[in-house]
Amino acid sequence: MTLLKAESLSIQFGGLKAVDKVSLEIEKGQLFGLIGPNGAGKTTFFNLLTGVYKPTEGKLFFDGQEITNVPTVSRSHLGIRRTFQNIRLFKGLTVLENALIAFDQNMSYSLFDSFLKSSKFHLQEKEAYDKALKLLTLFKLDLNKNDKASDLSYGAQRKLEIIRTLMSDPQLILLDEPAAGMNHSETAQLMDLIKKVRDDFKLTILLIEHDMKLVMGLCEQIAVLDHGNKIAQGRPDEVSRDPQVIEAYLGPDLDSGVTT
Ligand SMILES: Nc1ncnc2c1ncn2[C@@H]1O[C@H](COP(=O)(O)OP(=O)(O)OP(=O)(O)O)[C@@H](O)[C@H]1O
Ligand SMILES: [Mg+2]
Repeated sequence: MTLLKAESLSIQFGGLKAVDKVSLEIEKGQLFGLIGPNGAGKTTFFNLLTGVYKPTEGKLFFDGQEITNVPTVSRSHLGIRRTFQNIRLFKGLTVLENALIAFDQNMSYSLFDSFLKSSKFHLQEKEAYDKALKLLTLFKLDLNKNDKASDLSYGAQRKLEIIRTLMSDPQLILLDEPAAGMNHSETAQLMDLIKKVRDDFKLTILLIEHDMKLVMGLCEQIAVLDHGNKIAQGRPDEVSRDPQVIEAYLGPDLDSGVTT
């Protein structure tokens, strides 16, 4: 069953067609990769999916509902959550607080309830705490829970960003270069984690990544952007031997040679 469908989605900045008539469908539960050279339009595509940008052309559907004109915050409530290429955490807050804040939008108690510290409030606080701790443990950040987010390594900050997306029971998470700045062992660990959260939380995941080992080893379906156009889509083995993809991005030895 299709969860996300983009129909001829486009956006133009001045004369630049940053995303040009891109159509794609992501199945529920799929691990989907979006690759392509620097400036190909990948992050811009995420910004269209989350409603940061309005498309100049095309339509977007989520879970059977058209969301082309639905505002960002409503898309988030529908279950679309993302991480950012340039990490966005509350750096002065602790690791645990960063996770808890991401749960807040889910809370149904009113301000009045919170003043009264009603039983509902306590229940939800506890639910948030338990959930945060479970995720921090899964991502091996539980021992850092009281550290300031800014004191974490770059790789750990990226993991915390993913945890934040998971705090609100999303349906679809969009990960913008989750392995950027990670070393080989961190990347290998991240691959296992992404697969595990997809399976355990029955999520759909769309990820942008320049680390081809991660993309090819993890994703079931991959779309390739170049100059705003989708130039290929298929299984990793299909995409990696597509002459147009090799020419535009991968190179003959699967070394993309791009910077993040
Ligand atoms: N708000 C904007 N205004 C003008 N141009 C923009 C804007 N956002 C993106 N662009 C341009 O759109 C093109 C696509 O950028 P985008 O950030 O989507 O690329 P990307 O595929 O994510 O690249 P990278 O792999 O380097 O992150 C680039 O030429 C970029 O300069
Ligand atoms: Mg980008």
